[in-house]
Amino acid sequence: MASSPYYLTTPIYYVNDRPHIGHAYTTLACDVLARFHRLDGRDVHFLTGTDEHGQKVEKSAMAADKNPQTFTDEVSQNFRKLAEDMNYSNDDFIRTTEERHRRAAQAIWKAIQDNGHIYLDSYAGWYSVRDEAFYAESELTKNEDGQKIAPTGAEVEWVEEPSYFFDLSKWQEPLLEFYEQNPDFIGPDSRRNEVVSFVKGGLKDLSISRTSFKWGIPVPDDTDHIMYVWLDALTNYLTAVGYPDTENPDYSKFWPADLHMVGKDIVRFHAVYWPAFLMAAGLPTPKRVYAHGWLLNKGEKMSKSLGNVVLPEDLVSQYGLDPVRYYLLREVPFGNDGYISHETMVARINSDLANDIGNLAQRSLSMVAKNCDGAVPTPGPFSEADESLLNAARDVLDSARDEFNKQAFHRGLEAIWNVVGDANRYVDAQAPWELRKTDPERMATVLYVLAETIRHLGILIQPIMPDAAAQMLDQLAIDEDARTFAHLGPNHALTAGSPLPKPAPVFPRYVDEDAAS
Ligand code: MSP
Repeated sequence: MASSPYYLTTPIYYVNDRPHIGHAYTTLACDVLARFHRLDGRDVHFLTGTDEHGQKVEKSAMAADKNPQTFTDEVSQNFRKLAEDMNYSNDDFIRTTEERHRRAAQAIWKAIQDNGHIYLDSYAGWYSVRDEAFYAESELTKNEDGQKIAPTGAEVEWVEEPSYFFDLSKWQEPLLEFYEQNPDFIGPDSRRNEVVSFVKGGLKDLSISRTSFKWGIPVPDDTDHIMYVWLDALTNYLTAVGYPDTENPDYSKFWPADLHMVGKDIVRFHAVYWPAFLMAAGLPTPKRVYAHGWLLNKGEKMSKSLGNVVLPEDLVSQYGLDPVRYYLLREVPFGNDGYISHETMVARINSDLANDIGNLAQRSLSMVAKNCDGAVPTPGPFSEADESLLNAARDVLDSARDEFNKQAFHRGLEAIWNVVGDANRYVDAQAPWELRKTDPERMATVLYVLAETIRHLGILIQPIMPDAAAQMLDQLAIDEDARTFAHLGPNHALTAGSPLPKPAPVFPRYVDEDAAS
């Protein structure tokens, strides 16, 4: 049976910057979903990459005294490196300066134009280079220096130039109907409500070409113009599956995308402009856009301009990769803004990881090593308590899947950690160290139930902590090809008597150097 496709994307990153933990966060969420769906038997295509055109990147290149191509070649590498550092399992890494993308962007332009939705006029209004967005006078306020600023806080400048327009105003009703018919198109609900009221407020035609600079994709048949960077950038999601070749097997398999993951600042581009462009081009619309919140540092959105960025490589070298991956998706309810701090990081590492799951695995597997000849113990009949723990471990996939499908990572993890809690309570109640003296057969059963529970936990935490999970599963001598969600449940249970390697702790405690000295 062919497995069902699942296409998910991150926003492509502006290459004016070094990646910070806010960037890493969006892609991490996608990586966890990609790994989850692969383990769940789906045919996943996970895309990330870099957004390399536009005035913002051109200005950064000029500031670095480089030509934009050399500059983007270099900075794009930082994002490839981020993917390696964070252990992302992306299937593709797209750059909007690639030839495949120029073809796709020009093709969607032609399709929209051929359908009569583009006209030539001139733009006179406000533009923010930082946001690469046009703003109406009514949206602007003033900063302390009396300069006009966008709602995002970005400075704006007055632009007057010939421009092609997209007839966005005509898409108000079709969009509202589309949101109505596809209630899951935008998540979370708060963002959906925001988008719906924005569209109900009326839409203006959108300027989609620029003439005052050159760093972009030329408009087909009018090379005085380059395409507006957001129309260019959004099209990357189509490029990566082979568009404009709609006969391409990847296109037929993966388009429309299952999920565009974005930060809340760019929801309007993804949930309003993008479906309108696609409808205008006669192409199918994506199934879902999910907008997560901000990672805050000292109360403010982390960003280069505020000088408060946390670098992923610093966090990883201080706390370890898998703990950072776990922390980011467990600590902040996905969808909300949230703080990250050293204190909460250490608390999660020491309690959820070292104490809860780490200790469970270490004490159980050490007892197996010492008391069961280093092999999977042979269980006797299961008691009610045994069955209840095994069932909890077997059933948790359904709740984790429901939560992950809603992008509620924190709740999916909580469900898995409820099983960890059940298992720790089970060890305390069964006290296998006592049984060793009083009832060795019962001890073997208890240790078997624990090993089998740990096997389930190891399989389930792979999407979030791939390396730590692999170590746990190695300690149970589970074959590499027996680690998918299809291997959960009694049919693939551990075989009594199979030899096990010597256990070693997987989740060390974090000890503050100050406290230790
Ligand atoms: N290039 C556009 C996206 C084009 S998609 C067709 C862009 N790039 S970005 O580099 O500025 O941002 C990429 C992603 O990082 C966005 O989803 C943004 O919301 C996210 N984040 C940037 N700073 C963030 C935090 N401090 N916290 C969480 N996410 C943040 O926008």
